[in-house]
Amino acid sequence: MRGKGGMDFLSWRLWKRRKEGIGRACWGMNSRGGGNGWGRRGCCFWTRGMRRREWMSCPKLSRWLVHILSCSAVAQEAMRGNSTSTFNLVRCKLTLFYDYWQMNEILEALLPRDMIIPSAFETVGHIAHLNLRDEHLPYKKLIAKVVLDKNKPKIQTVVNKIDAIHNDYRTMQLEVLAGNHSLVTMVVENGLRFHVDLAAVYWNSRLASERQRLLNGFTRNDVLCDVFAGVGPIALSAAKIVKHVYANDLNPCAVQYMEKNSVLNKLERHIEIFNMDGRRFIDAMYASQKAQSITQVVMNLPNDAVEYLDAFRGICKDKPKDKEYALPMIHVYGFSKARDPEFDFHERIRIALQEVAVNVEMRRVRQVAPGKWMLCASFRLPISVAYAHTMSRMQAHQVKSF
Ligand SMILES: C[S@@+](CC[C@H](N)C(=O)[O-])C[C@H]1O[C@@H](n2cnc3c(N)ncnc32)[C@H](O)[C@@H]1O
Repeated sequence: MRGKGGMDFLSWRLWKRRKEGIGRACWGMNSRGGGNGWGRRGCCFWTRGMRRREWMSCPKLSRWLVHILSCSAVAQEAMRGNSTSTFNLVRCKLTLFYDYWQMNEILEALLPRDMIIPSAFETVGHIAHLNLRDEHLPYKKLIAKVVLDKNKPKIQTVVNKIDAIHNDYRTMQLEVLAGNHSLVTMVVENGLRFHVDLAAVYWNSRLASERQRLLNGFTRNDVLCDVFAGVGPIALSAAKIVKHVYANDLNPCAVQYMEKNSVLNKLERHIEIFNMDGRRFIDAMYASQKAQSITQVVMNLPNDAVEYLDAFRGICKDKPKDKEYALPMIHVYGFSKARDPEFDFHERIRIALQEVAVNVEMRRVRQVAPGKWMLCASFRLPISVAYAHTMSRMQAHQVKSF
């Protein structure tokens, strides 16, 4: 789109705003003569506030103008110190185009006054992920174009989340606002490369430090079961550390990416990947010989994971009690909106396990919304639960449908 005199559209918009006072610069230098001639220097520019006659200092512009002037013959002479000339205030007019201004400055100039500037975004590989408010939506394409232009070449696509995550696979509904339309990208985490298709699988870069914290607790003697593994950020990073990993996800697309990522990172010999419901996976693992070796279980599906804990009831009931199994540490994630989130989550764990005495180590991971916390509870599976003779919901369901 072209504006006045063949300028690109955004330069034209800025030019229009410049007529209102944006982008004009005035620079002043004063010297008393002698010395190196640089007695006092400064730079000011008008932004939107210019209309209200407010001046803002701009270090970047200042540096630039000082550079231009220091290249001039008079200034060079003055700096060499052999000039006795007296400098007066110099006034010059500059037109600064789109390329000059930073993202925030442009958005501030283009969006209506008093609107919060949507300058923060999350990055997943080459994708910038905005979370626009309703008031931004009429300007969503304009905002995305500025974000794209000012963050190239790292950012190639700008998307906005359309809706809260509701579906089973925890995928986001995204609208591509600018750039190329591919949502397949590559993320580097923990020295590993992950192919991710944001349209089809779950990925959250904000949880990188939480994943790291979890991994720090694993040793090479561990065998890990990742019940809700996604494309494998925990499972594959753990595969570098522990003896072996069993990873599972219900989403066939996530499983495909996890397999691809295990090959990409040359970890395929350290991981076995499954595609089934989490409860069925726990059941299958503990019905097999693998059960004896499992030392760590990760359950990262904060919305529902706690509901799957009943799958651990009676997992050892057919095993001889004298040859006691090393029962695993379970790390289960959950959300809580309660006033005492730790108490609330602990309570839900006790109910799901049908066991009062569960010694839980609890930590808050992050606040996901006002008053809503994501928590991680870690505990050793109690013997009373593992050897319980009451049935899990899945076993009960199987008996009923038999
Ligand atoms: C919050 S994501 C976590 C993925 C991964 N752990 C990570 O940190 O990126 C939860 C994952 O659980 C999977 N999932 C949802 N319901 C499931 C179920 N019933 N059984 C197994 N996996 C399930 C989703 O497909 C999704 O990939």
